[in-house]
Amino acid sequence: MRRVEMDGKEVLAQEAMRYVRDVKFLGLGTGRTVRTLIKRLNKEGILSSIEVICSSVDTERQVAALGGNVLSIFVGKQPEIYIDSFDLLVERKTLVKGGGAALLREKLLAYYSQKRIYLGESHKLKDTPPVSVPVEVVPTSLSYLVKTLEQKGFNVLVRESEGKIGPVITDNGNAVIDVEVRDLKKLCDLDRDLKMYVGVVETGIFCPPFTTRYLSHMEERLNA
Ligand code: 5RP
Repeated sequence: MRRVEMDGKEVLAQEAMRYVRDVKFLGLGTGRTVRTLIKRLNKEGILSSIEVICSSVDTERQVAALGGNVLSIFVGKQPEIYIDSFDLLVERKTLVKGGGAALLREKLLAYYSQKRIYLGESHKLKDTPPVSVPVEVVPTSLSYLVKTLEQKGFNVLVRESEGKIGPVITDNGNAVIDVEVRDLKKLCDLDRDLKMYVGVVETGIFCPPFTTRYLSHMEERLNA
């Protein structure tokens, strides 16, 4: 058996290249996996020959810094394919995202793309509770929402800015709460229910259909 010596994110970026070869208009998510993919796209001379629409200012900055063509999300164009990573793949069917607080634009692009591919390491597979679900909320609703969700029995944390005082503020000017969830069987119902509360903008629960490539599968294939 051939050992895979590459860093996990490098292996995932290499895997993603299979999907982008003939793509002219690509949607990109947010995080370290996507950052690794951007570098690879650049190395292989693809980045400058495609248009990219990004789920965060952070990703836009990285693409632009390498000379890539960033198209504004406000253009509303449909990417041929959207590639992103995830925080958790729950029971191999539902994704939890938003560790980088980019969940709203990530869901927007995923929804409006022709195809969605999610990449992640096998340690992100989760079959046992609890899971922490990020929820983007309007800042003025924070106190009401935290109290209401706590009364419903959830543990809730308001996500704080690293190195600053106060809550994380997303690219959309909102705050993020992390809600501890125990019932993993009903995550997609919870996604719908949470959005009924006034002040909730979007949740980090991503329901099928999508394609996931996670490292344990790839290791088997690469080692074969
Ligand atoms: C950002 C996300 C990311 O996809 C998630 O946090 C995983 O990131 P990484 O690629 O750094 O492991 O949802 O909002």
